[in-house]
Amino acid sequence: MSHLNTPFSETHSKIYLHCEKSALCDMRVAVIGAGVIGLSTAKCIYEQYHSTQGNLTIEVYADRFTPLTTSDGAAGFWQPYLYDNGRTEETKWNKETFDYLLSVLSSPESVKMGIFLQSGYNLCSDYAPEPSFKDIVLGFRNLTKRELEMFPGYNHGWFNTALMIEGKTYLPWLMDWLQNRGVMFYQKKIESFKELADAGVDIIINCSGVRSGDLQPDPQLTPGRGQIIKVDAPWLKHWILTHNKRSSTYNSPYIIPGSHLVTVGGVFQVGNWSEANNSIDHKKIWEEACHLEPSLKHARIVEDWAGLRPVRTTVRLEKEKISCGQNDIEVIHNYGHGGFGLTIHWGCAMEASRLFGQIIENSAKTPKARL
Ligand SMILES: Cc1cc2nc3c(=O)[nH]c(=O)nc-3n(C[C@H](O)[C@H](O)[C@H](O)COP(=O)(O)OP(=O)(O)OC[C@H]3O[C@@H](n4cnc5c(N)ncnc54)[C@H](O)[C@@H]3O)c2cc1C
Ligand SMILES: *[C@@H]1O[C@H](CO)[C@@H](O)[C@H](O)[C@H]1NC(C)=O
Ligand SMILES: *[C@@H]1O[C@H](CO)[C@@H](O)[C@H](O)[C@H]1NC(C)=O
Ligand SMILES: *[C@@H]1O[C@H](CO)[C@@H](O)[C@H](O)[C@H]1NC(C)=O
Ligand SMILES: *[C@@H]1O[C@H](CO)[C@@H](O)[C@H](O)[C@H]1NC(C)=O
Ligand SMILES: *[C@@H]1O[C@H](CO)[C@@H](O)[C@H](O)[C@H]1NC(C)=O
Repeated sequence: MSHLNTPFSETHSKIYLHCEKSALCDMRVAVIGAGVIGLSTAKCIYEQYHSTQGNLTIEVYADRFTPLTTSDGAAGFWQPYLYDNGRTEETKWNKETFDYLLSVLSSPESVKMGIFLQSGYNLCSDYAPEPSFKDIVLGFRNLTKRELEMFPGYNHGWFNTALMIEGKTYLPWLMDWLQNRGVMFYQKKIESFKELADAGVDIIINCSGVRSGDLQPDPQLTPGRGQIIKVDAPWLKHWILTHNKRSSTYNSPYIIPGSHLVTVGGVFQVGNWSEANNSIDHKKIWEEACHLEPSLKHARIVEDWAGLRPVRTTVRLEKEKISCGQNDIEVIHNYGHGGFGLTIHWGCAMEASRLFGQIIENSAKTPKARL
């Protein structure tokens, strides 16, 4: 891929000197992960600090780039889980992302970014309280009796306008944006944090999604396997998501029209690491979706895709000082965004960027020399 550089090229393995007194230090940042979380965090840090941090170098390391990340396969629909269960910070990050994407809509870039408005239905088979995102989306309202008549088996639900942010379009746009500003991309599996510390990196941003590091396994992080079917059905204009008390989120049928294809799901299998398509899952997804939306029977099936949601009790977004040999290295964690990574990405990128600012402030107060 034209974006990629050779890992640890000569210009980047120089011996590294921290400035002593000035707040304007040389600062080398390595982002691990080139999904929506890694790329948007890199962008946010660049936007906020490249002008004040004179010599800010940002590098992105990943073993998979677009179009091969989980973020590429996702439908790209803006909607969190129905309830935040008290995780109000995540609701705030979701809202910040929605507001940001909405503001982008007035720019012609929105098309190149893969962002557009889209309305649709959340259907519940049992009564359910109003979701945490009701005041974030546009025009949230209860379904009318006539609307419910279109969906036998569902007796409750809501209609609203939300957004689409399609990874297959957004990720290449983010990579171009970063590359035009000198951010380097390296295709490399990072085996340990030490290898980046040894190469002279000052701050690591851990945006590695579902795969746990060998250094510091995270028992709270598990895969939530998803499988979807992409179909050609241009007559479908609204998304339809179903919810019921018996199955977990996204383990019941959903239909999400995208810019070219319609995404049909789904399954949510906690603890399964398989990225292979499964024909039994395919059959279940297809039969249930056709029951919900009978016109799908006329759709041409284009492809199957399976991916792993980085499931965690909460998003991990915090900084941590890790000691690597003689050096301490600052790590900012930004992972565990479950089935809503695109939905929450920008709020999280801004928070990671704020943590980055704290590290810079502290390092300006306590300058250290590394030779
Ligand atoms: C079927 C399905 C549908 C979905 N639909 C939606 C949706 O409609 N809306 C929504 O908001 N979310 C959706 N999601 C969830 C969303 O895809 C994820 O939350 C999001 O992609 C997570 O982004 P990420 O950047 O953390 O991870 P990823 O996109 O998986 O990126 C991880 C990156 O880290 C790199 N990496 C990992 N370990 C290492 C290592 N050791 N060394 C180097 N690189 C490493 C990988 O190569 C990759 O570049 C869906 C998920 C699935 C499975
Ligand atoms: C950037 O680095 C160069 C050489 O390493 C140094 O001369 C210059 O002062 C640095 N600029 C800032 C703003 O720190
Ligand atoms: C939807 O209906 C319920 C009761 O049936 C009501 O409490 C609620 O306020 C309504 N929501 C909206 C957004 O109108
Ligand atoms: C980096 O993130 C992964 C999740 O993607 C996590 O499992 C791992 O513990 C993190 N690594 C460190 C050193 O914190
Ligand atoms: C995980 O999913 C794969 C693919 O669908 C399937 O073949 C396998 O049996 C599953 N494993 C477990 C432990 O459920
Ligand atoms: C899943 O199926 C699609 C075609 O529908 C194929 O392109 C893809 O490689 C398959 N994935 C796996 C892991 O077999």
